[in-house]
Amino acid sequence: MSAAVRTPPDPADPATVDDTIVDWYAGAARDLPWRAPGTAPWAVLVSEVMLQQTPVARVEPRWREWLARWPAPADLAAASPAEVIRAWGKLGYPRRALRLREAAAAITERHGGAVPADVAALESLPGIGTYTARAVACFGHGQRQPVVDTNVRRVVARLVHGNATAAPARSSDLTDIAALTPDDHDRAVRFSVAVMELGALVCVAGTPRCALCPVRDQCAWRLAGSPAATGPPRRVQRYAGTDRQVRGRLLDVLRGASQPVAPAELDRVWEDAVQRSRCLNSLLADGLVVQTADGRFTLPE
Ligand code: ADE
Repeated sequence: MSAAVRTPPDPADPATVDDTIVDWYAGAARDLPWRAPGTAPWAVLVSEVMLQQTPVARVEPRWREWLARWPAPADLAAASPAEVIRAWGKLGYPRRALRLREAAAAITERHGGAVPADVAALESLPGIGTYTARAVACFGHGQRQPVVDTNVRRVVARLVHGNATAAPARSSDLTDIAALTPDDHDRAVRFSVAVMELGALVCVAGTPRCALCPVRDQCAWRLAGSPAATGPPRRVQRYAGTDRQVRGRLLDVLRGASQPVAPAELDRVWEDAVQRSRCLNSLLADGLVVQTADGRFTLPE
């Protein structure tokens, strides 16, 4: 009796990987509100900006508040910077709030208040980079676009290239994912969100959950024996003691105040005077804080 010959699976065969990942997504995806069919491009844009470097659970309530308050770009464009900074709350990286307001103003002025569908037009908006422009074109306008965030880069690094970790962002990321993306536009949109979800839930940065992975048998990294990462170890971002924390505390005081705040009130939030003043200066330089003629501090009106 001859031994059965098993053909090894093709690593990351685009002909099957896309279907497998889309089918997995149908059963495993989180039910996130910005993914509901018919979500307007503006709502998608707000979600994508909020989701940059911020966990889904923290974004969801803010996203609902923002869209209830500013349902169209023209509404946000008409708000004051102070209102927008207050409404951003503690989502972090508050420059995003100002940039989103500037993007809303540009959409209102240049595009008649409708979020453009063209990637180049999206990329020319304040604060909108390669990823966000394509995410809006894809999830907001239903286009077939290569949508590559950190999670997708990691999936491609493992599945296609056999590396444990992704290289820093580079233009070939877009062609790599485009090669796996189905031609049909509706299916391409589902594939794009499905790969992101695979990277967020299964093919995670620490220890990947390969037992749950629908494409583990086609994964170049697994087929190569799951080699360890080369490069420097992953930096886990700390928050305590950083300028981000100090800036957050200073901004918190101003967000909660109905009048400009005296310097002594800000001195109380952080002991280290050098760090405190560096952070206050950076908030002033970012346009998140302004100083009044009498030397107090406030949000920009
Ligand atoms: N769905 C679409 N874009 C997303 C994102 N950036 N994070 C989580 N879910 C998403």
